[in-house]
Amino acid sequence: MKIHMMERFFLIIAAILVVLGAIAVGVSYWTFGVRLPGPVGRIDPALAAQTEPFDAPGLFQTGESQYEAVMLGSLWQWTPYAVGDGMTVPAGSTITFKLTSNNVIHGFMIRDTDINAMVIPGEVTQVTHTFDEPGEYLIICHEYCGLGHHQMFSKVVVTA
Ligand code: CUA
Repeated sequence: MKIHMMERFFLIIAAILVVLGAIAVGVSYWTFGVRLPGPVGRIDPALAAQTEPFDAPGLFQTGESQYEAVMLGSLWQWTPYAVGDGMTVPAGSTITFKLTSNNVIHGFMIRDTDINAMVIPGEVTQVTHTFDEPGEYLIICHEYCGLGHHQMFSKVVVTA
């Protein structure tokens, strides 16, 4: 089969780009530890507030510097950290956030961290971050979810 020179040229370019793309994905995964926040469980959104662990949301210490923060997104607050309320941990703490929504899609973003996830009704989203620097880290819903979207914020206070 005869392939035109220019066609061959662009086939080679396309093949190189595919290989470079695969290498970039591999390097970001293995070298930089980039992970997509993924669903770790399924839940009936209508029963979220009665289903473990969202029936008793809050911050729980699970190890020396390990915490689990269970938060339920609803219209329009993060339970139990509504309208600017927050959790307090010492610097160096690792918090694993377990999140779900009982109604619409919310966003979960923490300023000055790499946490940026969607919180989808019916799914449990899990993200983890280590807070090395003391300060106040604003948690915002960054997915427009209706009239009260702007008041859907909380915070992580990291003490020295
Ligand atoms: Cu929840 Cu915007």
